[in-house]
Amino acid sequence: MEPRRILLAITGGIAAYKVPELVRSLGRAGHDVSCAMTASATRFVSPLALQTLTGAPVRQDLFDPSEEGEIDHIRLADWADLVIVAPATANVLGRMCHGLADDLVSAVLLATRAPILVAPAMNVNMWSHPATRANLETLAQRGVRRVGPGAGELACGWEGEGRMAEPEEIAAEAELLLGSKTLEGETVLVTAGGTSEPIDAVRSITNRSSGKMGFALAEEAACRGARVILVAGVTALATPAGVERQDVSSALEMREAVLGRLEDASIVIKAAAVADFRPEVREESKIKKESLESASGITLRLVTNPDILAEVCARKGDRLVVGFAAESENVVPAARRKIERKGCDLMVANDISRSDAGFGVDTNAVYLLTPDGEVEELPLSSKRVVAAHVLDRVEKLRSERRG
Ligand code: PMT
Repeated sequence: MEPRRILLAITGGIAAYKVPELVRSLGRAGHDVSCAMTASATRFVSPLALQTLTGAPVRQDLFDPSEEGEIDHIRLADWADLVIVAPATANVLGRMCHGLADDLVSAVLLATRAPILVAPAMNVNMWSHPATRANLETLAQRGVRRVGPGAGELACGWEGEGRMAEPEEIAAEAELLLGSKTLEGETVLVTAGGTSEPIDAVRSITNRSSGKMGFALAEEAACRGARVILVAGVTALATPAGVERQDVSSALEMREAVLGRLEDASIVIKAAAVADFRPEVREESKIKKESLESASGITLRLVTNPDILAEVCARKGDRLVVGFAAESENVVPAARRKIERKGCDLMVANDISRSDAGFGVDTNAVYLLTPDGEVEELPLSSKRVVAAHVLDRVEKLRSERRG
């Protein structure tokens, strides 16, 4: 990667103590790093330390008399190829959201045309507050990228989400953002989340898929310059920046959406957890407890859902098709049988019996299988990193195919 100019905007949270390590990581990658700080950030990390590490003056003042004749915040905003806000407090997220600009950091964030990456860090209750959630949603819609936060013990004494992502993770995300647009010209159709198979007006059969794996793939593909169509099943996740989303609920709706968008797609990735069965009959109203045949229970007859992945593979043409296999035992042999049966170009197999992989969690540990018998094991990583590996592999298959 060519060296690029990165502006680190540091706001006032205890996680600011990790910023020198982030400066080192970015510097090791050869980037030219400059820092701008809010007044409260200077209480957690010394401007002198950052000046020593970057070899550049650390900006703090919106009206700095030493920068004669120049408007410092505009110069900094124009200079940066990427702005990283780390730590990003709830306060700065709110200020960004509302376009406030009464200190150097917020003025730069309003003036820059460079991509912005935020690394939030705050108390778990501040993180889950509806105001913070709404601000993040707005910023995501404007294309602001986010890394973290992670969960764990927080400096304030609470446990939960709110820990700033580790410096290496932020640096890796920055590389992705600055990376080349290797999927430009491609249309990637991704499915994510679980399906919900209705029993009656209020009840359904669903599964534990959160959508995180599929959303990470969609975000990563958009980052690489692809047009991304995300067919989302049951999930609470916000739409990643630059992604077209179509919401569905049942497997039948997902099938209709996928087959309806297939014509546009050059790459299809099926990370959704599709129900194999659905109740044969969907009662229009709520089944009343009193109407059950016997006090001991009710019998639901399930019928098989169509296999969307197999149908996509049957009409594959020149497309590259990636399936996921959720396995709880004999992961690789079971996934091998699936790739043979369904006919996709790559199968991503995850061991869903692990507590740190598969459904619901932020991490995954997968095997990548190809139809010619090759198996590659990827170590436990964040779903975003797994998504990056999967897309690297897709790009490799694409160039092999093109010869
Ligand atoms: O959403 P997360 O919480 O992040 O969890 C991620 C995940 C575990 C859901 C994901 O990594 C994963 O494994 N997705 C596939 C889940 C699944 O349905 O696996 P399967 O082995 O039952 O199906 C194999 C493949 O066929 C999948 O690509 C699936 O989308 C597809 N399929 C399955 C059944 C069906 N009727 N139609 C399909 O297209």
